[in-house]
Amino acid sequence: MTLMSRAQLGFILLVAAASLLEVSEARTIVVGSSEGWRFGFNYTDWALQNSPFYINDELVFKYDPPSKTNSGYSVYLLPNLWSYITCDFSKAKILASETQGKGGGFKVELNQWRPYYFASGNKDGYNCKDGLMKLFAVPLPRWNY
Ligand SMILES: *[C@@H]1O[C@H](CO)[C@@H](O)[C@H](O)[C@H]1NC(C)=O
Repeated sequence: MTLMSRAQLGFILLVAAASLLEVSEARTIVVGSSEGWRFGFNYTDWALQNSPFYINDELVFKYDPPSKTNSGYSVYLLPNLWSYITCDFSKAKILASETQGKGGGFKVELNQWRPYYFASGNKDGYNCKDGLMKLFAVPLPRWNY
């Protein structure tokens, strides 16, 4: 092995080690970043741009309670991809009510290796369909287990 390729190998190992360190800390991520959880923001797009997520990352849903300017948001977990695509809440599980997004927001830890389908469930899917308030995340396993 030449000196040059040893240096290159060393560099590759350093980059690999750095990327392991980078994913080893669980993160707290505000859904929608500064926009929070609101009607009309494209969360599919946001999720694509903020991927990948890792197991034990925490998502925070921040939203105001119902008022004159908003009809109320919430956080539901939908059971599968089809219910996510169609915004079907018939088998959905409520995680957070209309008032649980205030202040520091509602926090949910992505602690399993599975797809998570989140949506705002108010008004029979109106928030989800017309308001784009749905989010799909598959957290990746961490390397340092
Ligand atoms: C939301 O973003 C996704 C991903 O970028 C895109 O495919 C979709 O068309 C967008 N939806 C709307 C209504 O703009």
